[in-house]
Amino acid sequence: MSCLKRLQGRDFISVADLTSEELRFVLDTAYGLKQRFYSGERVIPVLSGRSIMMIFQKPSTRTRISFEQAITQLGGHPITVNWQELQLGRGESVADTARVLERYVDGIVARVYKHNDLEELAKHANVPVINALSDREHPCQAVGDMLTIYEKRGRLEGVTLAYVGDGGNNVAHSLLLAAGKLGLNVRIGTAEGYDPNPEVLRLAEEEATNSGALIEIVRTPEDAVKAADVVYTDVWVSMGQEAERERRVKDLGKFRVTPELMKLAKRDAIFMHCLPALRGMEVVDDVIDGPWSVVWDQAENRLHAQKAILALLIQ
Ligand code: CP
Ligand code: NVA
Repeated sequence: MSCLKRLQGRDFISVADLTSEELRFVLDTAYGLKQRFYSGERVIPVLSGRSIMMIFQKPSTRTRISFEQAITQLGGHPITVNWQELQLGRGESVADTARVLERYVDGIVARVYKHNDLEELAKHANVPVINALSDREHPCQAVGDMLTIYEKRGRLEGVTLAYVGDGGNNVAHSLLLAAGKLGLNVRIGTAEGYDPNPEVLRLAEEEATNSGALIEIVRTPEDAVKAADVVYTDVWVSMGQEAERERRVKDLGKFRVTPELMKLAKRDAIFMHCLPALRGMEVVDDVIDGPWSVVWDQAENRLHAQKAILALLIQ
């Protein structure tokens, strides 16, 4: 069966839901859709007559607006609500909500605290459910990021990405899984106690064995970025971890991305951040505003990546 047929109607909760062939196909589609957009095809109405529900339990700038625009540019209708505005906020179960929503809409995009709530939505809704960030993963971010690396480096296989900071967060997890599938080497530079979830690491390493990617965890930012093609960071305190702020800032303090650190990477290395950035904390202005930074192109690519995901999954 072709990738096109296989992807129709599927959920996208984790990068691990896709085979490497399917992930490559999503990336090729995103690349093609971006080119068509820039050639003047602003609307490609493959979702004409379809409505996509978006539920946000946490704040969002990029994900929310890029998904709304992606749905609109595919000729569909986005319906965005805050979790608290739904009866979910008063205790209606996720399963019952899923059973109702599938009668109204053609797909559900959700940003949640607990990854398990997404799995529950997907289990009980007979329409595709897409992860717009959970405490465990941020798969749409990883697809956009792979598109960015491909554009900037001309390839993915053999590229070395240094991820510096909180190695156990959603963004690090999805990057690891995508890199393992696509043959990118990943060096995570993080403090003890901030390693990736063991199950995610096991899955990524399994994929890496097949693709030839190298996955390493190191304890200094210098060891991580040495001769890297891409230096990536994210906030040290993710949404929902505010109570751990003091400890996290103290433990991860030496993993700040500075110009001095960037100079240890390859001469033409790029700097990436999923954003929002806490300037002066995990990255300083001279890096995020400096010659290495591709963060605005990276943010734009969320739109093109999500158009591909929606166009391929929603029936
Ligand atoms: N990178 C990202 O998901 O940003 P938002 O939280 O603004 O959606
Ligand atoms: N790790 C961050 C990513 C934000 C897009 C968080 O979960 O807050």
